[in-house]
Amino acid sequence: MKFATEAIHSSYDPDDHNRAIMPPIYQNSMFALKEIGENTPFRYARVSNPTRQVLEDTMAALEKGHSGMAFASGMGGIDCIWRTILKPGDTILAVQDIYGGAYDLLVDVYAHWGIQVVFANLTELSQVEPLLQQHKPALVWLESPSNPLLRLVDIQAICTLAHQYGASVGFDNTFATPYLQQPITLGVDVVFHSATKYLCGHSDVTMGIVVVKDAALAKRMRNMQIMTGSIAAPMDCAFVLRGIKTLSVRMDRHLLNAQIIAERLQTHAAVEKVFYPGLPTHEHHALAQTQMNGFGGVVSVYLKNNTREASNQVIKALDMLLMAPSLGGVESLVNHSASQSHSGMSTEVKDALGIREGLLRFSIGIEDVEDIWNDIQQALNATL
Ligand SMILES: Cc1ncc(COP(=O)(O)O)c(C=O)c1O
Repeated sequence: MKFATEAIHSSYDPDDHNRAIMPPIYQNSMFALKEIGENTPFRYARVSNPTRQVLEDTMAALEKGHSGMAFASGMGGIDCIWRTILKPGDTILAVQDIYGGAYDLLVDVYAHWGIQVVFANLTELSQVEPLLQQHKPALVWLESPSNPLLRLVDIQAICTLAHQYGASVGFDNTFATPYLQQPITLGVDVVFHSATKYLCGHSDVTMGIVVVKDAALAKRMRNMQIMTGSIAAPMDCAFVLRGIKTLSVRMDRHLLNAQIIAERLQTHAAVEKVFYPGLPTHEHHALAQTQMNGFGGVVSVYLKNNTREASNQVIKALDMLLMAPSLGGVESLVNHSASQSHSGMSTEVKDALGIREGLLRFSIGIEDVEDIWNDIQQALNATL
């Protein structure tokens, strides 16, 4: 099956569910046993639930992994991965432009629990082997394209090196989705999604999804999830399953719109620089062409006027686009990373990463592209 078909048909058999065309929502916490020791597939919903199972199997199919697991939030999923793979004394080597919430979890929690946390610029392949030699990490954590500057890492090359040095590789695939990039096929051991974003696609669910490449790690991670209890609710699973059925169609429109908006933003007098992997001027455009099947729906800009006031002027002048801390829904949004997703970082760290006050991140939705552009253009004009 090809992707769009697999997203709809791969993991659901109506014969198992009274011929219901759509996966039913099993809104119950337990399942009855007829006798002691009966071996039923479902018993208690923290352990497993039929609606969640369809979603988890669908994601495992789309990401080409062994097993999927659905969590109550993205951060619940990341925490489960790190707790399963890392133990006190271990080192995690993470991309420096990691998602802000994941950065906070490492710095504020894991670093105090005996984990050595090393952030590095892994976009520079030449730096990766010396870092592996020096730090001997148990886990390398990648995010590509990254949030909000859309930097890429060479997934296949880093996985090969990491495995040579005995490290596992985890990957945040939230921005690309499995439609644009399947990291497990490039060597990654465990893939993560904030399903809150494109997989759901309609800004009405908070969820994390993890897909593990091999059975042994999947078993350990499943046990961790059961013990720590961050599980996705049945209704939320049904919403995200519905979202996944239209993922390829939505992503095609996100890509089309984002490319047009990125090209036009380059010509706007208020804009200093545009970040979008689909632009030939993007530092990792060539890598994106080989590694991805499209460049995503997020476009970021540096305003010429690099101040919070200028960013605020644009945000307030936007009419259709709302400011919100998330992305990946059908509606276009704007985000001010310095005060929102990356507010937990010190000014020095933000400066080093290029998270400026005059940086705006647009999540380009699937509305008519002319309406999106007209709104962004008139709002940017406000700073001239
Ligand atoms: C790239 C990325 N990873 C992880 C997360 C965390 O996911 P959640 O907010 O669903 O817990 C987010 C949320 O913004 C994100 O953008």
